[in-house]
Amino acid sequence: MYTELAGKTAVVTGGSKGIGTAIAKRFGAEKMNVVVNYFSDSKGAEAAVKIIEEAGGKGLAVQANVGEEAGAQKLLDAAINTFGSVDIWVNNAGVENRSATHELSLEDWNRVITTNLTGVFLGSKVALKYFVDNGKKGNIINMSSVHEQIPWPGFAHYAASKGGVKLFTETTAMEYAKQNIRVNNIGPGAINTPINAKKFADPVQYEETAGMVPMHRIGDPEEVAAAAAWLASDESSYVTGVTLFVDGGMTLYPAFQDGKG
Ligand code: BGC
Repeated sequence: MYTELAGKTAVVTGGSKGIGTAIAKRFGAEKMNVVVNYFSDSKGAEAAVKIIEEAGGKGLAVQANVGEEAGAQKLLDAAINTFGSVDIWVNNAGVENRSATHELSLEDWNRVITTNLTGVFLGSKVALKYFVDNGKKGNIINMSSVHEQIPWPGFAHYAASKGGVKLFTETTAMEYAKQNIRVNNIGPGAINTPINAKKFADPVQYEETAGMVPMHRIGDPEEVAAAAAWLASDESSYVTGVTLFVDGGMTLYPAFQDGKG
């Protein structure tokens, strides 16, 4: 637990499920105020608010499309109107689908890039403007992926969006460092979330993925949320522009694990 987080306000995009809900819950346990953004899953967002309040924080569910400037602004306004400020902004919302690149529709390309990359830009833009205008020490956490580094056939649009997030994070971290604003990435590997529920419920597919992880297991959303809490806290006060991989070692070239090569 990080006592300095109590009473601080966070916006978590895509908070209605998976890693987003786990972060909302952890922030609730830190006694924070959390704006839980959702796009279509109002039930999931309301459930997350309940979880936050049970954990000891305050929550507010807000519908918004993070791929639109008005959506990001709506989240900022909701946080200020309800909780009086914003201290931490987590650009977590993300989507993915599998498609061979030569068959990938422009619609799917645009959907993935809009949510995963443009959404990070727009959320960062409104948060940065608010931090700069108010001379506020700000903190932005972007949800990247191991696929900001590892190519992923069948997911070129997804990998491109995460590669974009990596350099966007590094650039904004550098651009705003003098204003005392930190910007970092979390790079989750294979995590047990609704996106992956079907895949990991099948023991063969679970084993196939676990086999690409040196720790040989799939991670839990709470393990990613712990990284978010640390990055949000003052314990990481000298950390900016990094990707903190939470991946059981997936980015370490696991094919070499037994000394092959
Ligand atoms: C994806 C998951 C995938 C994992 C490891 C993540 O970014 O969202 O679907 O299992 O990377 O490949």
